[in-house]
Order: sequence, then structure tokens, then C-alpha cells
Amino acid sequence: MALLFGFFGRRHMSMIMRQNFAKSCEKKLNDQINMELKACHQYLAMAFHYDRADVSSPGVHRFFLQASNEEREHAEKIMKYMNKRGGLVRLSAVPEPIPCFADTLAGLKHALEMELEVNQHLLDVHALAGQENDPNLCDFIEANFLQEQVDGQKVLAEYIRQMERAKDDLGEYLFDKYLSSTAGMHPSSGSKGH
Ligand SMILES: [Fe+2]
Ligand SMILES: [Fe+2]
Repeated sequence: MALLFGFFGRRHMSMIMRQNFAKSCEKKLNDQINMELKACHQYLAMAFHYDRADVSSPGVHRFFLQASNEEREHAEKIMKYMNKRGGLVRLSAVPEPIPCFADTLAGLKHALEMELEVNQHLLDVHALAGQENDPNLCDFIEANFLQEQVDGQKVLAEYIRQMERAKDDLGEYLFDKYLSSTAGMHPSSGSKGH
């Protein structure tokens, strides 16, 4: 019983600065934290799939490992924010990730699908914060997540297209790579362009 009082006593102390933070927003933010951790786990599984000796894609491994670390950082950032607003962080069990992928293209496509889902949820959090008249939460989501999501989704979409081109027409793909490392038709004219 003393333990219980201790718990509620401390809990009460942590809530005294809570202001204009709706229960619905707290719940939605917890869902967002758990989505970020789910993505973290899935990217981790992907990173070590592409590290297998019978797959051996060190670049893809590094890319997904970095993505996994970023998702964990996102979760932690929201957990920090939750504590600033006086909410309670509630972590749930993380679902088992997909363990392997047919090729790099399949992994990249799954990553984009996952990012779009995460982004939709962030937009839902933002919309709810607007309904609940919580400008602080709106600002937190806008400043820390929305642009980064869109940037990341563009990168993934481009990688998917690059991979498709490399598969369908290696000549086109390689010629574009060659062009991107040359100085153009009139190298001495710099960026003026004639
Ligand atoms: Fe994220
Ligand atoms: Fe992400």
C-alpha cells in the first residue's frame, strides 16, 4: 500500500505543470512512439538481412542500420516531449518484423510503404492537436517531423527508381552516372551555361 501511495505521490508531482494537454493527444502520441519503435525494429531486421553472407549488400546494410537508429531517435524525442507535457509514456510490445526480402528493390519498397504510414499518423497527430487547440503539439510535430518525413520519402522513391533503372537498362543507368561526374559541354564556362 505504501508503495502504491509512493507511486501516485510521485505521479502527482510530475503532473503539476500539465496544461492544455488532452488525453486524446497523449494517447495518439503514445501510438506514434510505438510506430517509431516498430519502424526501428523493422529497419534493424532489414539491416541484418542485407548483411547476410548470401545477400552481402554492405551499402544497403548501412543505409537501413542508419534508418533504424533514426527511428529510435524519433521515439526518444517524442518520449522527451511527452514528459515535458506531463503525459505518461506507455510502450507496447513491438510486432515481429519481416525477416527477409527478395532483393534490394523489395526492401526499399517496403521502407517507403512504412514511411508513408508513419507520415499519415504524424498528420493525424497534427490534425488532432489542431482540434484540441494545442499549438505547442502542432509546432512540435511541424518543427521536428513533417519536413524530414517528406525529404526521406523523396530519397526512398528516388532509390526505388534508380534501382528499377539499373535492373531494366543498365546502359541508361550507367550513362547517367557518367554524366553526373562530368563537367558538361563547356567545362570552362562554369555555371553560366550557353
Ligand atoms: Fe520516424
Ligand atoms: Fe522514418
